Amino acid sequence: MPMSAPDTLTILGIAGSPRRHGNSERLLDECLAGARAAGAEVDKLVVVECDIAPCTGCGGCAPSGVCVISDDMADVYERLDGADAVVVASPVYFATVPAVLKALYDRLQPYWARRYVHGEQVSLRRPGALLLVRGGGDPFGFEAAAAPTRSVFAVLGIDYAEELHVEGPDAPEDIERFPAELANAARIGRSLVESVRRESQR
Ligand SMILES: Cc1cc2nc3c(=O)[nH]c(=O)nc-3n(C[C@H](O)[C@H](O)[C@H](O)COP(=O)(O)O)c2cc1C
Repeated sequence: MPMSAPDTLTILGIAGSPRRHGNSERLLDECLAGARAAGAEVDKLVVVECDIAPCTGCGGCAPSGVCVISDDMADVYERLDGADAVVVASPVYFATVPAVLKALYDRLQPYWARRYVHGEQVSLRRPGALLLVRGGGDPFGFEAAAAPTRSVFAVLGIDYAEELHVEGPDAPEDIERFPAELANAARIGRSLVESVRRESQR
């Protein structure tokens, strides 16, 4: 549940690429700059810099709602729980998301256990967005790459507010040739902040 007051809201940005400073991270930075310009605090989580072991499917989280593996996910859980909105940026890798991001997603199984084994309610809705980049040149599109984030947001009670697709960028600087998409990422950042503010005034 978000802990911050509405006037100090925090947007968590998750950079899902194993390549630092590439196309999806640049989109994320633009989105977070938009959120900051709208008055939010931003928290950027670079997945490839975290030590995140894969879920082993041991079932250890089912009785307790807590993962039994000790690594950087403890920090990720805290940052996720403290966020008022979440934005994920990822490249498409073989039609879906890179292994580093999928490893983080699979370790969110304790949220599933708390909700569907223990029957805990999601007490507060939060908005979320997904920014996807792919080089293109294959017929598989963005659909399979979007599905894991949609699934994660559904379990965490994050409302899937926006999805941005950018097709074409491949080399790290290529995204600079897509100014409209960069501007759209910044708009999404502002829009997430406005949406949290609107919700908190209800
Ligand atoms: C292992 C790997 C798999 C990829 N698979 C796809 C793919 O299935 N479809 C596609 O359009 N691009 C694919 N790409 C290209 C990336 O999506 C593209 O280079 C993207 O701009 C990388 O974003 P990043 O700079 O944020 O890492 C792949 C790249 C790599 C390294």
